[in-house]
Amino acid sequence: MSWASGLVTVAARGAMVGPLGMELLLPPLDRDGDRPLYDQLYAALRDAILDQRLRRGAKMPSTRDLCGQLAISRNTALEAYARLASEGYVEARVGAGTYVTEALPDGLLQARSVAAPARVPAPHRVVSARGRLIVESEPVPSRPWSRLLPFYPGIPSFDLLPLTLWRRLVDRHLTPAAASHLFHYGRSEGLPELREAIAAYLVAGRGVRCTPEQVIVVAGSQQAVDLTARVLLDPGDAVWMEDPGWRGARSAFVAAGAMTVPVPIDDDGLDLDAARRRHPGARLAHVTPSHQFPLGRTMGLVRRLELLDWAASSGTWILEDDYDSEFRYAGAPLPALQGLDTAGRVIYTGTFSKVLFPALRLGYLVVPEPLVEPFRAAHALADRHNPSIDQAVLAAFLAEGHFARHLRRIRSAYGERQELMLEQIRDRLPDILEVSPDPAGMHLVAWLPPEVDDVAMADASAAAGISAPPLSYYSIEPPERGALMLGYTGVSRPRIRVGVQQLATALRLAIGR
Ligand SMILES: Cc1ncc(COP(=O)(O)O)c(C=O)c1O
Repeated sequence: MSWASGLVTVAARGAMVGPLGMELLLPPLDRDGDRPLYDQLYAALRDAILDQRLRRGAKMPSTRDLCGQLAISRNTALEAYARLASEGYVEARVGAGTYVTEALPDGLLQARSVAAPARVPAPHRVVSARGRLIVESEPVPSRPWSRLLPFYPGIPSFDLLPLTLWRRLVDRHLTPAAASHLFHYGRSEGLPELREAIAAYLVAGRGVRCTPEQVIVVAGSQQAVDLTARVLLDPGDAVWMEDPGWRGARSAFVAAGAMTVPVPIDDDGLDLDAARRRHPGARLAHVTPSHQFPLGRTMGLVRRLELLDWAASSGTWILEDDYDSEFRYAGAPLPALQGLDTAGRVIYTGTFSKVLFPALRLGYLVVPEPLVEPFRAAHALADRHNPSIDQAVLAAFLAEGHFARHLRRIRSAYGERQELMLEQIRDRLPDILEVSPDPAGMHLVAWLPPEVDDVAMADASAAAGISAPPLSYYSIEPPERGALMLGYTGVSRPRIRVGVQQLATALRLAIGR
């Protein structure tokens, strides 16, 4: 009985394959697609074996017969068989042909059937309690307005990046001489030259008090908060959160099993009296004193000293998130809270996501000396270390003065973009959005009329191609009045004009004005 005759028997154990031939047993091959035929054939045969359309022990057609059945070349059939054999799905028996491997147990095959996709259980049914918290913490929002369209807040301008210079620095480090230390495993606390350059910048530019040994290089502030949660928090610990505040931090604390305590924001930032009333025993406070995210308030000196005093006397840790302090358009940048800390209670973090670009995934922590080793160990566990070549390039960028020059350039461009954004909003939406100049930052808070739902407005804007996240998204307790966050730094001047026009059309339609 030959395969090609079409009279072959069932694909049962020990029998030859299929009563009707391979062209009916397998899905048709896509002859016009990009995927090579041998690869398609291999995958189709593998699936047929896994879901037992081809049973174990069944004799496979000879490659010559297969070519006739499927109108393919001999090489295609040989390649597919060779791959199946190398992965153990079939075995060639000398002088007798090719057989589906006998040793494959039915139970395992059924479990791996790919033709009938297994029902995928919901994530919360398959993960640990900790895994459930991670999923529920929603670290990356998937809302209509979370696409990276114009006005998504906190995005720097990519068109102002000094790419030629960056490329030159990369080239300089991609040499055999550099290879010996940059291509090897590196240190979890970061490349020494980068730690030094960051410490020098923070001491001179941000009023931080630190040595390079206290600097831990991390993959952005998101990793900084995640490591802080791992090192300093136990499940159930209370964390004071600015409300509204940065969701990335809240997600990290929720995922660690901490209890987030919403603390309202007043003119001076975190309302310390309210915080103490709500939970006097908090283990950690997450604050953005230079420029509160997202409302933009600055924590004054008195509040800073009170907060530090409280931390020193109660044993509370303060995580100071200095995410966008470089962007101050009026007056000198305010020194960091960390520089006033004499009790070693402040963990300071900053990022290059805003001053360079977020995909760089480089930021830093400055931790009190006793915490250096725990943070280094946590970093080693999370990802061993950050990419060494990027760290070396960034170190040179900082040490050779390019960073300071780049900052001056973007600061001036961003100041102009904010002015234009304000002007456009006041021209086109004076009756709907209330905006004020902000001496710092990367976005404007555009207040909506009191009765208007900010989530609905953000959804309507997203449908028109504008990402303007609602204040409600950043809030734990519902805000008294809704607002939209409008980032301007990553949007060119012509695009700001067009974008505000799109926003105006969308909001007017949604509100009916
Ligand atoms: C308040 C705040 N901190 C920090 C960050 C920076 O995150 P990363 O450095 O992980 O990119 C952001 C980014 O959106 C932020 O809004």
